[in-house]
Amino acid sequence: MTRITLVEGDITAQQVDVVVNAANSSLLGGGGVDGAIHRRGGHRILEDCRALRASRYGRGLPTGQAVATTAGDLPARWVVHTVGPVYLADEYEKRAELLASCYRESLRVAAELGARTVAFPAVSAGIFGWPPADAARIALGTVAAVAAELGSGPEEVRFVLFGSEMFEVFAGVGRELG
Ligand code: AR6
Repeated sequence: MTRITLVEGDITAQQVDVVVNAANSSLLGGGGVDGAIHRRGGHRILEDCRALRASRYGRGLPTGQAVATTAGDLPARWVVHTVGPVYLADEYEKRAELLASCYRESLRVAAELGARTVAFPAVSAGIFGWPPADAARIALGTVAAVAAELGSGPEEVRFVLFGSEMFEVFAGVGRELG
């Protein structure tokens, strides 16, 4: 049984096996969670990302996919980088499916690594502009569905929400979904 938990805090400080990064397809860093992970995790994460660009992902990591690197100096063991979609109301269905795919693919990669604990940020709900409540519904709904399918998934999937507002949004949606 996978426990889904919500905490308010900084994902770079989490003692978990996998920290998921809301990256961009370049894999070479950016702002938000991505900037924080690279700053605190140090140069080894970027070196792994560069190696991935030079090998498997010459054109970048496609939106909705996920790939693992070392976690460098973070307390975690691995970082799983995923690329969320930019919010665009006109292409809602397609992009919502890509956001769900970020969670599914990250959990698949984490399972391949043998991770028992996985921390997610609110993918796409910052710079990429996804409305928080909808991002939370997709995030919590997808993780709950994957956990139910897997049976023997990770022990814990922890959503690490930055600031009390995002925490309250996730907590509210969590209550709605039961
Ligand atoms: N810990 C947990 N959550 C955080 C942290 C942190 N240290 N820092 C920010 N957040 P964002 P996106 C929250 O913008 O929307 C980057 O430039 C933040 O408040 O990090 O998927 C990438 O390179 C928000 O609630 O990710 C991409 O270009 C959530 O994490 C682009 O931003 C996601 O915000 C990705 O944008």
